[in-house]
Amino acid sequence: GIEGDVRHLLDIDDLSREELFTVLDRAADYKLAQTRGEGHADLPGKTLGMLFQKPSTRTRVSFETGMTHLGGHAIFLGADDIQLGRGEPLKDTARTLSRYVDAVMARVFKHENIRVMAEYADVPIVNGLTDDAHPCQTLADLLTIRERFADLDSVSATWIGDGNNVAQSFVLGCALAGIDLTVATPEDHGIDEAVLERAADLGTAPTVTHDPVEAVTDANVVYTDVWVSMGQEDEREIRLRAFEGFQVNQELLEHAPEAAVMHCLPAHRGEEITDAVIESERSIVFDQAENRLHTQKAVLSWLLE
Ligand code: CP
Ligand code: NVA
Repeated sequence: GIEGDVRHLLDIDDLSREELFTVLDRAADYKLAQTRGEGHADLPGKTLGMLFQKPSTRTRVSFETGMTHLGGHAIFLGADDIQLGRGEPLKDTARTLSRYVDAVMARVFKHENIRVMAEYADVPIVNGLTDDAHPCQTLADLLTIRERFADLDSVSATWIGDGNNVAQSFVLGCALAGIDLTVATPEDHGIDEAVLERAADLGTAPTVTHDPVEAVTDANVVYTDVWVSMGQEDEREIRLRAFEGFQVNQELLEHAPEAAVMHCLPAHRGEEITDAVIESERSIVFDQAENRLHTQKAVLSWLLE
């Protein structure tokens, strides 16, 4: 979205299709530069604030390392370590941080909270995951898919499991990138209607089904994520029952013999995916994880240039 002159990344469709490919190209350039040992300190003296209301391994370390590679600096702000945890309003936190840092990455619960931050901040706000969206993950996912299948228009991807934050941004990302997507979820755990409408507006809403076998048949990519997301721990038993039959395992993948398997991590082996599948040759989950670093750097330099 655009708030005044400042660009934010609250969800993946804050980027146009052209901007998405600009960021992905830039990420690929950074990846190559890093492989070749070429310096790319494009953000000297810049500081990123990183606010976390939920735990993180990949998002935290990729953003922090990314800022180091770009010649800048990142500050980890655990919600309970700053005054936010004692009740200082988010809008005051956002305005205060804006006076110090050049951009803020935030991982919060309610999606509305990232909107509040964007409304009050004078610097770019980057969504590092909300209950509804995970656009930074989608950037890494699209880079990973593009590395495997140069022509995105001919890729057929399947999301299986929960229609959660990672799923919703992936739906929008596939619509933007022109990837043919099928989504298979239990009836009550689908993608929000509003997200499906946004995808349709972008050009391609996914095919929606509740049948995992039908959904994965002949897919090039099979993507899943946990059944119990951060903040849903109280619903654990109910959710595990609701998702029975949606596990990505060898048996299901017999219907998609060529498919690469994706997972944003962390994975709960034995629930949404088996250990054997994650450890198999078809798994590209650590390429996804690595690509978080390259795409994070691309987003930061694109927003701050
Ligand atoms: N995929 C992802 O966002 O991982 P973290 O929760 O470790 O940041
Ligand atoms: N859907 C998961 C993703 C974690 C990166 C969660 O929100 O917990």
